[in-house]
Amino acid sequence: MKPHLALALLLLFLFLQQKWLLVNGDMFIKSRGIHFMLNGSPFYANGFNAYWLMYVASDPSQRPKVSAAFREASRHDLSVARTWAFSDGGYNPLQYSPGSYNEQMFKGLDFVVAEARRYGIKLILSLANNYESFGGKNQYVNWARNQGQYLTSDDDFFRNSVVKGFYKNHIRTILNRYNTITGVVYKNDPTIMAWELMNEPRCTSDPSGRTIQAWIMEMASYVKSIDRNHLLEAGLEGFYGQSSSWRNNLNPGFNIGTDFIANNRIPGIDFATVHSYPDQWLSSSNDQKQLSFLSNWLDAHIQDAQYILHKPLFVTEFGKSWKDSGFSPYQRDMLFNIVYVKIYESAKHGGAAGGGLFWQLLAQGMDSFRDGYEVMLDQNSSTANVIAHQAHKLHQIRNIFARTRNMEMWKRARGRRGQWLSGNKGKRIGN
Ligand SMILES: *[C@@H]1O[C@H](CO)[C@@H](O)[C@H](O)[C@H]1NC(C)=O
Repeated sequence: MKPHLALALLLLFLFLQQKWLLVNGDMFIKSRGIHFMLNGSPFYANGFNAYWLMYVASDPSQRPKVSAAFREASRHDLSVARTWAFSDGGYNPLQYSPGSYNEQMFKGLDFVVAEARRYGIKLILSLANNYESFGGKNQYVNWARNQGQYLTSDDDFFRNSVVKGFYKNHIRTILNRYNTITGVVYKNDPTIMAWELMNEPRCTSDPSGRTIQAWIMEMASYVKSIDRNHLLEAGLEGFYGQSSSWRNNLNPGFNIGTDFIANNRIPGIDFATVHSYPDQWLSSSNDQKQLSFLSNWLDAHIQDAQYILHKPLFVTEFGKSWKDSGFSPYQRDMLFNIVYVKIYESAKHGGAAGGGLFWQLLAQGMDSFRDGYEVMLDQNSSTANVIAHQAHKLHQIRNIFARTRNMEMWKRARGRRGQWLSGNKGKRIGN
């Protein structure tokens, strides 16, 4: 091959690759101040939770359900999904025992990442569970007990150095996973928006909050020592702690050893998260009280992210169960609407709210996964409309920013050209 032909082909290849990247919006989501950024514009997203994706995808005959979920989600303009990248011990897990992994389950997660990319959906991958489903703190602590550690509480997950070693090994294994479908190592994959340290970390044995604070600091710097591409969040529900006594009257009455302000201030934590289940947290209050709680809860967290933390905020879980007494789909739509209006109003005015992820999306034929909170986009049409409407509105904000930015770039370019012209005016060039 002649050298200039080879060069031309190389340039063409690079051009096409660049073009492909742009078409797919396939870059890392970053944070800048209180905003998420993607390809130079603020990123706002409506999205969903679907904890079951890896588990279902680990059985190749069930993969169409995963694809259907992503297809329906993208059809409704949803662009972020939060899911579990853990399943520790027990029957058919991802991690059989510390450091020993189930390749079949890992291929399920590879498939989830590949499908998300295909449908233009970014992922938040959670790395462990506070609760016992899919193993959780309890399983890690038991593994350490089997190795002779004397541990008295599941909260020793946050304290014991052997357990912390097991957990760090899991972090390292996930981040360095080579995706057998896409060929991209997870820590280099822009399909992943963020890592989450744990689903709803709680340490009731230390209400001072010091244990969780130290654990998040240690684990955040560990994640960052492996992966500086991706954002990181802690997985918190947003309860206030000792660092913000002026807020504590907002808490729904339990102290679980976390601190929204102090925990999210940790440098390796890139954005704050908040969950909200007024139907569970205020189960003896009426609907109206629950909704007004929700409204204040979101206002406070959006403001605190903006003015105290100076970081973006994602509402990473909210929902309403049809198992609640007196439930109607209208009530659920109303709750979704409150969350969506809060996010939209903040985003529209340049505030810290970046988006919301409802709990939880199911595809058809998944009755055994119903937990009361499930939404089937192709069947629950009123809720699906509320969801799609929000997605559309958030995309519009992003488009307005993108247009304004292009306009400014164009003006700046024209300004420079103008300067150059006027700078040369009157001078006799080439004489
Ligand atoms: C969603 O649709 C399914 C299937 O049609 C139905 O069984 C369920 O009751 C609906 N859920 C709500 C909350 O309306």
